Amino acid sequence: MSDDLLEQVRLNGAVPAHVAIIMDGNGRWARNRTLPRPFGHQAGMKSVREVVEGALAAGVEVLTLFAFSNENWQRPPDEIGALMSLLQEYISRELAELKAQDVGVRFLGDLDRLAASARRAVDQMMQETAGCTRLALNICISYGSRAEITRAARRLAEEVAAGRLAPDEIDEEALAGQLYTAPWPDPDLLIRTSGELRLSNFLLWQLAYAELYVTPVLWPDFTRRHLYEAILDFQRRERRFGRVSV
Ligand code: FPP
Repeated sequence: MSDDLLEQVRLNGAVPAHVAIIMDGNGRWARNRTLPRPFGHQAGMKSVREVVEGALAAGVEVLTLFAFSNENWQRPPDEIGALMSLLQEYISRELAELKAQDVGVRFLGDLDRLAASARRAVDQMMQETAGCTRLALNICISYGSRAEITRAARRLAEEVAAGRLAPDEIDEEALAGQLYTAPWPDPDLLIRTSGELRLSNFLLWQLAYAELYVTPVLWPDFTRRHLYEAILDFQRRERRFGRVSV
């Protein structure tokens, strides 16, 4: 049971408002079972449900998941096809429940690269949950942080070229305001599964002061209990934001 850990999380106080997760290790999970890689992604969907439920129970306000990177477009076509089908399966299976739980879902990334059917599904999910506020669930697909920052710079340049913005008005707030994540505070906690010590072009700007938590657990084995363990670890950290201890 995870209730004992949830109780500890609540007793410890400050729950991270924004948790970001690099969901890694689906391929290795499948390989360990001599299954094709898409089976790992299929199993990983269950963990998505686990962390959404865990985040709701713990009182996390924003959950941002890295589901598919710009670089992932270079994977074999059958794996890309399987991931896109899973995305649509996830949306049709979870939409009603997410709405009932008051979860607002946003997909962040270059959505223009999605196939028409996947695009329709993500648009439908965003529209139907637009008024939901208990948890903001951001799913990054076709996402790369450098591309996101480049896009933000281009949008600011367009504002300047149109005479709506002066160059000296471009500050950190202005740039952050053009990122996909503009509506939400930066992540407090980044979790990466499967033991790799990399950011993999995920939220490079937004993670400036995040606490990092890497677990060897492969994503399909990740449960809400692991989420609570990560939050408990976070609650033991002292966050100084570049300042000295008081
Ligand atoms: C990384 O594992 C994981 C992915 C590239 C896909 C993540 C997708 C899911 C968890 C399922 C679908 C989720 C939603 C929200 C629809 P990897 O394949 O890089 O694993 P490896 O490093 O072991 O090869």
